[in-house]
Amino acid sequence: MGKDKLRRFAENLTFDCMIQPDFEEIFHRDHPLKGHWHESFFHNDNPIVLELGCGKGEYTIALAQRDPDRNYIGVDIKGARMWRGAKTATEKQMRNVAFVRTRIEFIESFFGEGEIDEIWITFPDPQLKTRRAKKRLTSPLFLSSYARMLRPEGAINLKTDSQHLYEYTDAVIRRFGLPCEVSNRDIYGSGYADEVLSVKTAYEQMFLERGLPITYTRFGLGGQRDFEMFDWDGDLSDEKDNEEARK
Ligand SMILES: C[S@@+](CC[C@H](N)C(=O)[O-])C[C@H]1O[C@@H](n2cnc3c(N)ncnc32)[C@H](O)[C@@H]1O
Repeated sequence: MGKDKLRRFAENLTFDCMIQPDFEEIFHRDHPLKGHWHESFFHNDNPIVLELGCGKGEYTIALAQRDPDRNYIGVDIKGARMWRGAKTATEKQMRNVAFVRTRIEFIESFFGEGEIDEIWITFPDPQLKTRRAKKRLTSPLFLSSYARMLRPEGAINLKTDSQHLYEYTDAVIRRFGLPCEVSNRDIYGSGYADEVLSVKTAYEQMFLERGLPITYTRFGLGGQRDFEMFDWDGDLSDEKDNEEARK
């Protein structure tokens, strides 16, 4: 492992905003902050927003700076990337920011019923192969998990360059009749991107340099709790996507 990565891992241990329990710690039981983020971590009653697959945490930091009256938590498994966001939050003494290093599959061990007000999913791996559909962060499997921690009226925001994931998410929304506020397949080309949507993550920057349109979907779960996996016709398409770019 590179020296820089080791240095970042070591520094992560010193950040108050970085929560990184051992796998064993959360595999068998819930994290102690579950259901207690307001009183035990943020010490306020402000809404909590999650950024899933946050990478360097650009959205977590940018939104938290804009809106000190909301709390922001970036979630990712890659500590060396999250270091960037945690370092910034620490240097700027941002009290409304946390980072949780875990697999998103374990997210329910960290957040209680209705504890989350909003979710951002920023440039997730599109998981193009049909057999990996369950791993798409907008798959019914993940929506069932989000439904247990997101307030009934809470929104999910997806920003992606992947036309495949955009279409898949649209199919999921239609399949379950979910309330969809925005579905835009080219936020910059259509002039839709406002100040918040114009925040650019590391991956977004890379895709924009390649001239790829950026899509945005904002939808809710409409109070539904359980979502069954289904086969999507769109997976039969041979559409080329830019999966290689993410490696
Ligand atoms: C393509 S990167 C995007 C990172 C960042 N959002 C951006 O736009 O620059 C996808 C991120 O999701 C994280 N990720 C993918 N699957 C995950 C999972 N199951 N649990 C936690 N993190 C995951 C990866 O570690 C990676 O940082």
